Amino acid sequence: MAPMFLVSNEPMTKAGIESGVAATFPTLNYRKEGELKAVLERLNMHRQQHAAAKGTYGVNIIVQKTNPLFQQHLDACVEAKVPLYITSLGNPKTVIDAAHSYGATVLCDVTNMIHAQKAADMGCDGFIAVSSGAGGHAGPYPMHVLVPMLQKAFPDKMVIAAGGIATGQQMASAMILGAAGVSIGTRFIASTEATVSEEYKKAILAYGMEDIVLTERISGTPCNIINTPVAKRIGYKQNWFERFMSKSPRTRKYFKMLVQVRGMKSLEKAVKPGSYHQLWSAGQSVAFVDDITPVKEIIERLIKEYRTSLGAVSAQF
Ligand SMILES: Cc1cc2nc3c(=O)[nH]c(=O)nc-3n(C[C@H](O)[C@H](O)[C@H](O)COP(=O)(O)O)c2cc1C
Repeated sequence: MAPMFLVSNEPMTKAGIESGVAATFPTLNYRKEGELKAVLERLNMHRQQHAAAKGTYGVNIIVQKTNPLFQQHLDACVEAKVPLYITSLGNPKTVIDAAHSYGATVLCDVTNMIHAQKAADMGCDGFIAVSSGAGGHAGPYPMHVLVPMLQKAFPDKMVIAAGGIATGQQMASAMILGAAGVSIGTRFIASTEATVSEEYKKAILAYGMEDIVLTERISGTPCNIINTPVAKRIGYKQNWFERFMSKSPRTRKYFKMLVQVRGMKSLEKAVKPGSYHQLWSAGQSVAFVDDITPVKEIIERLIKEYRTSLGAVSAQF
């Protein structure tokens, strides 16, 4: 279960652990003093109580310099001995070293070979291959190109396919391409455990792949969102002033911080129940989401479809 800013929560993570998957969440979903530490303690307990299910959990840490809670969150995770880390948007070295000091696994979000090489040089255990069409910050390459390219170039690293996967059939195709697993986000927005607004969940069911657009106007990095009237009004490209401010060495860091805080506030307003501010991140896989069900059911269905698809392929030969 992929980490989703403002969407992933404790009940989803716990249900993922009980269903035997690696359920992850961004540490930035817990920004109040002491909140992350308490969540991690409860998750460690939950994992122990459900050890037979073999599920686990992981955190996503934004390693960009613009994340003011980076060190505080990393310290809390190391103290709790978090078993899995996913790093995004920046240099993962500090997280890799800290996690490896007690044997945890680190996967780095990558969208191309250059970033993958950098992460490999720093000693990551594998990659989340973020393809085009993914919810959140998406890459330019399709899964059927990115996953086998990474697998071939880095045979010793774990490659996890992300982007556009919402069914067991798609999951099977990722595994055939050489992925060691898949990372699924959008499908879980329409879960009973997600605490986002009903409007957001219903939008995941109602919109199709042609309604997903990439915008630079939320975080400065291309991000897939649903093309609602609010998204259209905000627009998709940065204007010349924003481009200048985010490139100039003197203003870059502070401007990016400003854009991110503004984007975060806007998204936060949108996920709240009863909000009319329709700014929702999602991937092209919305096309395959037709119901709002418990996490456990989503996972059971994925596994069933996965087995059926692999069986159908082998029966052909
Ligand atoms: C609402 C939403 C928020 C996301 N937030 C994050 C995030 O904070 N950090 C991160 O690494 N990825 C984030 N992602 C990307 C997911 O972790 C994952 O790569 C993506 O959802 C996979 O594509 P899919 O949505 O088609 O399954 C987000 C995705 C969505 C849909």
